[in-house]
Amino acid sequence: MNSKWIDLEGKTVVVTGGAMGIGEAIAADLKGCGANVAVFDVSEPKDYKEDEHTLFIKADIRSKTEMEAAVKQVVQKFGTIDGLVNNAGVTRPRILVDYYKQRPQYELSEEDFDFMVGVNQKGTFTVTQAVTRVMFEKKDGVIINMSSCAGLMGSRGHSCYSATKAAIHGFTMSWAKELGPFGIRVVGVAPDILDRTPANNDEKYRAQAYGRGWDVDTKPEKFFENYKSSIPLGRPGHLYEVADLICYLVSSHASYITGVTIPVSGGKSKG
Ligand SMILES: NC(=O)c1ccc[n+]([C@@H]2O[C@H](COP(=O)([O-])OP(=O)(O)OC[C@H]3O[C@@H](n4cnc5c(N)ncnc54)[C@H](O)[C@@H]3O)[C@@H](O)[C@H]2O)c1
Repeated sequence: MNSKWIDLEGKTVVVTGGAMGIGEAIAADLKGCGANVAVFDVSEPKDYKEDEHTLFIKADIRSKTEMEAAVKQVVQKFGTIDGLVNNAGVTRPRILVDYYKQRPQYELSEEDFDFMVGVNQKGTFTVTQAVTRVMFEKKDGVIINMSSCAGLMGSRGHSCYSATKAAIHGFTMSWAKELGPFGIRVVGVAPDILDRTPANNDEKYRAQAYGRGWDVDTKPEKFFENYKSSIPLGRPGHLYEVADLICYLVSSHASYITGVTIPVSGGKSKG
């Protein structure tokens, strides 16, 4: 939804991982509402064109040096930062032990663990620390952390990813307490199943199927069929349903909301 349904004119928002997926939808919705948007991503958005309201910086959220330089560049272009959307995140479905003894590559390795914790947890901390220094100076701002229902409820075959998303919820609650006295709100958003169907040879889907004791060639459509029975609203969510919540949370209409993680899950209660 790109209509200016909520007014974010004059606000500058950083979106990490805004080159594709949910982050791309968030960046587009924020822009549609009038905000200046700066995307920090390791991948370049397709058809990217810089204009007076848009900035893309190729940078890795795990790097303190790159985040400090990126924040400086945003302040040089837009004058300040009002919002940060910690959207960049990675997942590799992995089981703790290869129970079925057929696919050792789908057992959680130290490298998988370091990769997920590195991007999701350390990366979120690194960029937030750099941006908070700017918000702290003016005693105003909002930080939105992308968690996941997997982080609130657990998810079979995704223990490490779930743990990083539970950690994000911990950051939200703790940073809200630390930063509230300085006028900075911190809110979590926890999507669940969204309508993004990858190709059925997608390695992530094969690993996820294996971790659930299914045939590795299970078609993504079957996942959606199964999920439908656990989603009271009977369908996966749309990207704009996540993006719209974020626009609202960035706006002053959400001025008394902090320290909580809001599920965008159609009421899903088991994963
Ligand atoms: N897809 C879902 O159904 C779902 C559900 C719940 C939560 N989430 C969360 O939403 C967020 C976005 O998910 P998505 O499905 O759009 O993911 P995606 O893989 O489509 O996009 C992630 C983006 O993050 C970028 N990125 C990855 N590592 C980075 C790094 N080190 N530094 C900077 N950028 C980096 C990627 O280049 C990419 O543009 C993630 O935090 C994810 O955990 C997704």
